[in-house]
Amino acid sequence: MSEHDFDVLIVGSGAAGLTAALNLADKVKVCVLAKGGLSEGSTAWAQGGIAAVLEAGDTFDAHIKDTMIAGAGLNDLRTVELVVEEAPRAIARLAALGVPFTADDHGSGGALHLTREGGHSHRRIVHVDDATGWAVQQALEKAAVAHPNITLMPDRAALDLVTGRHGERYSGEGHVWGAYALNRQTAHVELFTARATILATGGAGRAYLYSTAPRGATGDGIAMAWRAGCRISNMEFMQFHPTCLWNLEVKNFLITEAVRGEGGQLINPKTGKRFMPYYDERLELAPRDVVARAIDAEIKRFGLDYVHLDISHMPADFVKGHFPNIHEKLLGLGIDMTTQPIPVVPAQHYTCGGILVDLAGRTDLPGLYAAGECTQSGLHGANRLASNSLLECLVFGEAAAVDILARWDDLAAPPPIRAWDESRVSEADEDVVVQHNWREIRRFMWDYVGIVRTTKRLERAKHRVDMLRGEVADYYGNYRVTADLIELRNLVEVADLIVRSALHRHESRGLHYTLDHPETLPQAVDTILVP
Ligand code: FAD
Ligand code: SIN
Repeated sequence: MSEHDFDVLIVGSGAAGLTAALNLADKVKVCVLAKGGLSEGSTAWAQGGIAAVLEAGDTFDAHIKDTMIAGAGLNDLRTVELVVEEAPRAIARLAALGVPFTADDHGSGGALHLTREGGHSHRRIVHVDDATGWAVQQALEKAAVAHPNITLMPDRAALDLVTGRHGERYSGEGHVWGAYALNRQTAHVELFTARATILATGGAGRAYLYSTAPRGATGDGIAMAWRAGCRISNMEFMQFHPTCLWNLEVKNFLITEAVRGEGGQLINPKTGKRFMPYYDERLELAPRDVVARAIDAEIKRFGLDYVHLDISHMPADFVKGHFPNIHEKLLGLGIDMTTQPIPVVPAQHYTCGGILVDLAGRTDLPGLYAAGECTQSGLHGANRLASNSLLECLVFGEAAAVDILARWDDLAAPPPIRAWDESRVSEADEDVVVQHNWREIRRFMWDYVGIVRTTKRLERAKHRVDMLRGEVADYYGNYRVTADLIELRNLVEVADLIVRSALHRHESRGLHYTLDHPETLPQAVDTILVP
């Protein structure tokens, strides 16, 4: 078995992982693993932008208040303050790395153009046209490639953390010393040891049939942390983006919220009427949970396949200027958004819950940190405010790095770790089992654990998760691991965490809406699952 030893191991090469790497690498040797290609996480797909207080008249207090309102009061105020106050600095660092943020053509002195998104009381979103994430990912990657202390290893699917108790039963007590990862090119498991490990593995959107998230968003870091003994929090708060393109071939193309921010209206295709006035006084710019539920209600009430998002009343040059990539993509599918409405449906978009971390990105386990979408840092509460998540990656990626360096002398070198044992497994002979179970999870999570929930549906989902868990564990124990099997095992784990968290919450708050408990309780309390 190949063995690699570094000072710090980072699992994930998106905004959180690469930010952490760049903040560590002047002092220590860092290895960054990615499950596939380096740019295959959600970061590269981000469209709208990054929220920061930069407009004259806007204040940190206003951004904090908007974040807490969207989060339905469940946010941790200390985290919200930290992230909001760090935002302008984080944007400046990205600009220094070469991210070509779009300038305001109406402003002076090359000021950044700020767009608007749901739940924000001010224009606050810096962006690179409508493809912000791609520019951010490229700039971070370029800097990481150029740094002699950073080793980037794509095609390594981490499958479990190495804990102080590895080989015995997992417990919350073990120090984390790195991870085992499948080398997808050789099909063998490799050992990566390190004094500190950072999980930056992104979200778990692919637990749902329809998701805007990339194929690899299977909650791997959350599942690995849970198995190693970390507490997991608020997994019931799965965010559904209101406007994913409805198209029979292209299933997960996002239409950025900035389209609504720049004047786009939601229309019921049967009545031809704008419907948000019936649901919320903030209209199309109400927080995402409100808009997604309104669309869901229209679709169900009128028996629709989709609703329309229409920005064709704005001048064609304005639309093309603001949304060049979306315009081009839609033209390729036969839709001209300057003259036609866009058919849209809600789809899973963001995982608000995750591995419980403190303000320095520390988890429950010594030596283990986490940052970005795989965490529950207290920033998002019961519903994430648009464009706050790349920001969280930048702030917590740096915070974790700073804490590791500050504690470096206390972080001991790893002890000898036993190799991965592949001697008692055989080649998988029935790939259909993995594919079938994967499809089954995503279908019942969509049907039973979606935008509007009931206890009965959640119990049905729980029953199915329990059945699949045994089947997948049996398969995992007997056959050689593959990337698909690793992901399936993690999907079962995160589906279980989502359903258990949802069953535990006896109220409706933010993204968790259940017909059996439609009221919001006076006190906001996090759901915390203890392994
Ligand atoms: P990711 O960027 O998802 O990276 C995860 C990394 O972990 C990848 O490198 C992956 O290969 C690796 N990984 C995962 N599992 C394993 C494993 N087992 N072994 C090894 N490596 C592993 N947020 C905003 O703030 N503004 C926006 O405009 C915005 N738009 C979005 C648009 C879309 C379509 C989507 C899907 C999300 C959007 N978001 C936006 C959310 C935001 O993009 C993500 O929350 C954020 O990029 C997550 O970054 P991350 O670093 O935590 O994870
Ligand atoms: C979008 O562009 O609508 C996505 C923004 C986000 O998820 O924060």
